[in-house]
Amino acid sequence: MQTATEPLIELDGVTKVFYTDEIETHALSGIHLSIQKGEYISIAGPSGCGKTTLLSILGLLDSPTDGVYSLNGRPVSGLTASERARIRNREIGFIFQAFNLIGDLTVYENVELPLTYRGMPSAERKQRVEAALERVGMAHRIRHYPSQLSGGQQQPVAVARAIAGDPLILLADEPTGNLDSKNGEAVMELLRELHQGGATICMVTHDPRYARHADRTIHLFDGQVVRDEAAGAVVEELEEAGFEIGVDGEKRVPHGG
Ligand SMILES: Nc1ncnc2c1ncn2[C@@H]1O[C@H](COP(=O)(O)OP(=O)(O)OP(=O)(O)O)[C@@H](O)[C@H]1O
Ligand SMILES: [Mg+2]
Repeated sequence: MQTATEPLIELDGVTKVFYTDEIETHALSGIHLSIQKGEYISIAGPSGCGKTTLLSILGLLDSPTDGVYSLNGRPVSGLTASERARIRNREIGFIFQAFNLIGDLTVYENVELPLTYRGMPSAERKQRVEAALERVGMAHRIRHYPSQLSGGQQQPVAVARAIAGDPLILLADEPTGNLDSKNGEAVMELLRELHQGGATICMVTHDPRYARHADRTIHLFDGQVVRDEAAGAVVEELEEAGFEIGVDGEKRVPHGG
């Protein structure tokens, strides 16, 4: 249970329209959303409904066409370019759908890069990079280049890069999309640890087993929030029906009939 009540993220009528040639795409249409500090949110919805667009706006990689995005009570439209860059570098971790590892850099250098941008001393960088790669089980691939890794190995490296800086907000776009269930669970465990450490997490996932780790699931359709539900809702229903729900969310047989 989260006790924090201060909204960290607030979207008020956020709209995003992309203009390409003659076509106008309404990727987001009037999103109202409030996310508390320390919440763990999962975002679901069909392909093209605006999930990545939403994460890009939350991560200050893109700006809304209309509406207000407030971060920590402050409309982000009022931030200078350098304030935006500073927040992106220091407070936000990204795990992209396409990993976005830099091909000319080794695994080690990819994970190190955001820490270098922050001006972190090299001894601390080394310790953090090694610890992060250790945690995702990629310490043995430190000198490899991304092209020398499988898709299933690039994903944990992207996760290591996102967690190495201990972000306050983690934005993850299908962080388990290329992983088998064992490695997928390992990534989810890392996210859970980060969440327990106080981070706010917004994760896009199509997989209900992974969405279950979140406090809340937001369903998007055609750029709109069509459902916003507490993860506990399903658990409560099952418990009322006499089921005992384990901490891992596994359903157990009813006790005493
Ligand atoms: N840079 C862009 N220029 C033009 N249109 C875009 C751009 N980025 C996204 N779109 C369009 O906006 C809509 C939402 O795209 P978005 O990437 O947010 O979807 P998504 O929910 O993440 O889908 P998926 O599950 O396939 O990743 C789509 O119709 C897409 O074609
Ligand atoms: Mg997407």
